[in-house]
Amino acid sequence: MTTTTTAAPVTGTVGASYTRVEGLEKVTGAARYAGEVPAAELAHGWLVLSTVARGRIRSIESDPVRAMPGVLAVLHHGNAPRVDGNYVGMLGRPDPIVEVFQHDRVPFVGWPVALVVAETTEQAREAAEALVVRYDEEPHDVAFSAGHAGIYTPDGDGMLAEKGDLAAELAASVHVVDAEYTTPEEHHSSMEPHAAMARWDGGRLEVVDSNQGSMWVAQELAKLFSLDPASVRVRSEHIGGAFGSKGVRVHQILAVMAATVLDRPVRVVMTRRQMFSLVGYRSPTAQRVRLGADADGRLRALDHQAHSLTSTVHEFVEASAGFGRPMYAADAHRSVNRVVRLDVPTPTFMRAPGEAPGSFALESALDELAERCGMDPIALRARNEPDVGPVSGLPFGSRNLLACFDEGARRFGWADRDPRPGVRREGRWLLGTGTAAATFPVIVAPSTAAVTAEADGTFTVRIGASDVGTGARTALTLLAAEALDVAGERVHVRIGDSDFGPAAISGGSMGTRSWGWAVTAAGRDLREQLALGGDIPPQGITVRSDTSAAVGSLTQKERHSFGAQFAEVAVDVTTGEVRVRRMLGVFAAGRIVNPLTARSQFIGGMTWGLSMALHEEAVRDQATGGHVGADLAGYHFAANADVPLIEADWVDDPDADDPVGIKGIGEIGIVGAAAAVANAVWHATGVRHRHLPIRPDRVL
Ligand code: MOS
Repeated sequence: MTTTTTAAPVTGTVGASYTRVEGLEKVTGAARYAGEVPAAELAHGWLVLSTVARGRIRSIESDPVRAMPGVLAVLHHGNAPRVDGNYVGMLGRPDPIVEVFQHDRVPFVGWPVALVVAETTEQAREAAEALVVRYDEEPHDVAFSAGHAGIYTPDGDGMLAEKGDLAAELAASVHVVDAEYTTPEEHHSSMEPHAAMARWDGGRLEVVDSNQGSMWVAQELAKLFSLDPASVRVRSEHIGGAFGSKGVRVHQILAVMAATVLDRPVRVVMTRRQMFSLVGYRSPTAQRVRLGADADGRLRALDHQAHSLTSTVHEFVEASAGFGRPMYAADAHRSVNRVVRLDVPTPTFMRAPGEAPGSFALESALDELAERCGMDPIALRARNEPDVGPVSGLPFGSRNLLACFDEGARRFGWADRDPRPGVRREGRWLLGTGTAAATFPVIVAPSTAAVTAEADGTFTVRIGASDVGTGARTALTLLAAEALDVAGERVHVRIGDSDFGPAAISGGSMGTRSWGWAVTAAGRDLREQLALGGDIPPQGITVRSDTSAAVGSLTQKERHSFGAQFAEVAVDVTTGEVRVRRMLGVFAAGRIVNPLTARSQFIGGMTWGLSMALHEEAVRDQATGGHVGADLAGYHFAANADVPLIEADWVDDPDADDPVGIKGIGEIGIVGAAAAVANAVWHATGVRHRHLPIRPDRVL
């Protein structure tokens, strides 16, 4: 990767690559994760999950298990502490799974039915595996399809958007693409499984956890257990990946219950298999896209209907149909999301929720339209570039999609491309290239921060941020250094503690922008104070910030990051294997704080897009309602050998409304990546693949 688009400033400031500040701790094993933080008198909980997809628990035969070595308790719906699951949390009403062990109903395979607590994990596990649970089973339905009875359009923001007369514009179109695209159930399985340790300490509940927002988890636990919010402290120092799955989950709740019942510290760690039903996943989608255009490719109609599933207990919508709303001008727009309730676990936010599958469908359809119009796919997108939000009518913040395509096309060698499909052959390989656009909304949430000038000349930043592995701690170090006008080495950033006060979560690609805003505000204030002169007292000088007012006064705009994805593939005509040979992503995603970790974010997302295009697919057994192969052997994803040279770069795109120009980069890397690969497969073979993953058996 090169960063020639911006001049390199001095080391340790915004815009220059800076090694992860906790990198040494992590690679030497000194960094402690939630599952390994030591505690005296620690007891260990092991989850027992339902084996039926629907029904009631008839009996839990805990007596024999209670007599096993080391076993301290068997918690279940018959004896667990009561909770108040009726609260309104940060995301509204919580998933009723927070009422774990409050009733005997089983709504899916893998629902928690018991927690065995013992002196050691081995004892807990042995006892948990010996526990006999009997069910009154009921018929279940886990078969997803767009035509499923009872599928509905949910209430709520963003589910339906319409503009213009769709039918009339389609009828007046010279070229029409009308196609269905599907993506399968996909899972995020972060390297570090979900883990929490809970203990009571002098009347205060302390939880050591792995999450995307310690204050978020602390507040929800306080509501659930009817505690004074000030009496709950959640810490989350290091996090081995999250991707949308690390909010309030059953492991924290059950650790708190067990710690309360036993009056000693209890840790609950999920297994890899348990994660498949307990931490959320990406719903399968079935999407119909209709595009109508004039002979010259100008869009008259854009219709995107996206279908997904949710559980019977909670409504989560993978809102894939929203992707096109800020993207392309068209006389008529319609985008609608529909969802069906099945006897499956509740899906959740998973990296670029909505945009990832939505971009696969719409950006594939645009490639099909370019073929019909006899146009270059980039020229087609340029022809439909909007002046204002195509549906909202709102002005854009910075919009540099075409700059991404220009730079990407130049770097990728797009100008030399022969548009004809299926004509490049190298031995038994057919070769092709493809492109697709990317976008992701730019979000910011109010945050508070404290910056202290220490007597020894260093600076300490305290903020309730969460570094899920992205390099957020390092980015904040650079941002604080810039605000204070000091070298990054003099700044120490402390995060992951609910006692640091309210702050954005690490979600929606909003973390660095939201926290950076607060850290910058406090840092600049402190710098001004220090400029007045005077000694620093032993306790230091602390300045606090709260961005609520500034964030609240932002004007309404279409604020987005954009990107252009390129892929080259080779398709083996004898086996159907698709090999990605190279990928390039060029992004307009605000000012880049740390090129080193930003590049990792982008290529991580792009790699995931490759994996989504070619490998990932969770298979549900209709008979049992559970997964086939719910582990990292059975769930196939891209390994090192599948991943070629991936390059990511960016164009200048500072956000005018952010104090330092940040937009956010966490999610856009995956957006459009699968479509670029699928479009390249078409270019190689002449065959459209509208169903992911593009497995060898589908290619042949
Ligand atoms: Mo991200 S899917 O908003 O954690």
